[in-house]
Amino acid sequence: MDGNGPYSFMSRGLYDTAFLAGELAKRLEPGSVLALDGDLGAGKTAFSQALAVALGVEELVNSPTFTIIKEYEGRELPFYHMDVYRLSLPEAAELGLDDYFEGDGVTLVEWAELIEELLPEERLSVHLAYTGPEERLFRLTPHGEKYIAWCEELNRNGVLSL
Ligand SMILES: Nc1ncnc2c1ncn2[C@@H]1O[C@H](COP(=O)(O)OP(=O)(O)O)[C@@H](O)[C@H]1O
Ligand SMILES: [Mg+2]
Repeated sequence: MDGNGPYSFMSRGLYDTAFLAGELAKRLEPGSVLALDGDLGAGKTAFSQALAVALGVEELVNSPTFTIIKEYEGRELPFYHMDVYRLSLPEAAELGLDDYFEGDGVTLVEWAELIEELLPEERLSVHLAYTGPEERLFRLTPHGEKYIAWCEELNRNGVLSL
């Protein structure tokens, strides 16, 4: 079995997306980083909103395209939501993103591949693809022992498949 994945999750509706977000939220801890990619409309923000709900964020989580970074208070952990679509790499480098990645909360980055050089080595990459009006294929690639262990466990539990 290849622990590095990619692992698949087929979402057949927002309910499934919320389920996956909930399974991941159970494992998130300070300094966890989720790096999301996928075309416009693939569901990155929808997944982010589901993750925020699972973390107990009560505020409404919007697309942070114009604000770049928004911080929310979850039940136990802060949630840092980023959308780097409009940033150049030098602009992103100026923001000191490491303070978030290494902070007390959970960071989720939309359009992560645009700032790949700035991402921490240890992270969970999540690629979303449109496969039908209500259907999205999630592909998870863990980078680092911690994330590999999460994915292996979720695979054993039947949530993810290889
Ligand atoms: N299974 C699903 N998972 C996530 N989003 C879905 C799903 N089915 C339909 N959608 C819809 O797809 C749209 C995704 O938009 P959004 O999350 O803003 O995409 P992105 O942030 O990737 O550009 C939302 O309107 C959401 O309700
Ligand atoms: Mg979005």
